[in-house]
Amino acid sequence: MTSWSLLPLALALLCSSTHCSLDCDLTQGLQEDFSLLNQMSTFPLVSCLKDRTNFNFPKEALNGSQLQKENATVIVLEMVQQIFTLFSQNATPATWNQTQLMQLLFGLHRQLEQLERCLEQYVEWEESSLESENPRLALKSYFQGISQYLQGKEYSHCAWEIVRVEIRRVFLFMSKLARKLRA
Ligand SMILES: *[C@@H]1O[C@H](CO)[C@@H](O)[C@H](O)[C@H]1NC(C)=O
Ligand SMILES: *[C@@H]1O[C@H](CO)[C@@H](O)[C@H](O)[C@H]1NC(C)=O
Ligand SMILES: *[C@@H]1O[C@H](CO)[C@@H](O)[C@H](O)[C@H]1NC(C)=O
Repeated sequence: MTSWSLLPLALALLCSSTHCSLDCDLTQGLQEDFSLLNQMSTFPLVSCLKDRTNFNFPKEALNGSQLQKENATVIVLEMVQQIFTLFSQNATPATWNQTQLMQLLFGLHRQLEQLERCLEQYVEWEESSLESENPRLALKSYFQGISQYLQGKEYSHCAWEIVRVEIRRVFLFMSKLARKLRA
């Protein structure tokens, strides 16, 4: 169970007492995260080509979820949560710029909070989050594959670089979704 399953209740209480912003525009935040992700390593990727693999990003499973705003929001939330968990591991390369890595984690955390507030506006989101269970499961198993890959490669520097490049693709996908959410 994810820890944010109780959030609608918590946020409902919070939003009734204070004013609660429903700013659902993530495009700028994601853009900032993306450029941190790009900048935080200068390791030459060429030397890691032998470690390339296909992580099978679940494009098909996520396709239908672009139609409805609330499930798209749930999907982006799941992605941000998983990326946050991935990069909060202590096993990331020491040569990555630690300041930028921290800034990235802070940014992701801010986006999580924003998404949770944003979901609050969808009255039936608990129901719809059940309906988007399949895309979420597909995502979970995708990120599980990434973790297993890292483990199998004993968290080598090259394995992390390959993962960093893969997560860039996830960011591009999220940005596309985020632009739709804003529209
Ligand atoms: C997503 O669905 C649309 C229409 O249902 C289809 O045209 C498109 O090829 C699909 N995209 C992917 C990546 O599966
Ligand atoms: C790490 O990133 C910070 C913030 O962008 C920058 O000021 C610093 O120079 C970088 N450190 C290295 C070693 O590149
Ligand atoms: C998206 O949510 C709607 C209800 O809000 C639901 O009918 C639909 O099945 C959901 N789609 C996916 C792919 O989860």
